[in-house]
Amino acid sequence: MTTTVYILNGPNLNLLGKRQPEIYGHDTLADVEATCTELGEKIGITTRLLQSNWEGQIIDWIHEARDAAQGIIINPAALTHTSVAVLDALNTFDGPVLEVHISNVHQRESFRHHSYVSQRADGVVAGFGIEGYALALRRMGRLLA
Ligand code: DQA
Repeated sequence: MTTTVYILNGPNLNLLGKRQPEIYGHDTLADVEATCTELGEKIGITTRLLQSNWEGQIIDWIHEARDAAQGIIINPAALTHTSVAVLDALNTFDGPVLEVHISNVHQRESFRHHSYVSQRADGVVAGFGIEGYALALRRMGRLLA
C-alpha cells in the first residue's frame, strides 16, 4: 500500500519567494514541492503539495485527506491564528498532523503567537525556513512507520 501525505498551504504562500523575502526567504513553493517529492521518494512516501488562498478549499482538502492520505503536514499561514474551522476539519482526520511555519512566529507580532491548529498538531516546526517541511516529512515518516 502506498503511504500518502498531504502537504497543505494556506493564504499567500503561492507568493513564497516573492513575498517579504526578508521573512520567508527566496525559495518558492515549487522548491518546497521538489524537496518534498525527492525526500518522499527516499523514505517511501508519496506527497501531494497543495496551496489555496481560500479557507473552504483547505477544509475540503482536509476532508479529502480522510480517505486519500495517512498524514497531513500543514502550513495554514494566517489561518493558523484565526480559523476554528480548519481546527475542526483537522479534528475529523485520524492520522498524524504536523504544523509548519517558515518563520519563527514566536519572535513576531503577538497575534501570531496563538495557533488554533496547534491544539490538534502532533508536532510543530517554526523558524527553520523551508527546511521545516523536510523536517516535518522525516518526522511523518517515523510516525507512519
Ligand atoms: C506563516 C506564519 C503566519 O503567521 C503567516 O500569516 C504566514 C506564514 C509561516 O510560514 O511563517 O502567512 O505560517
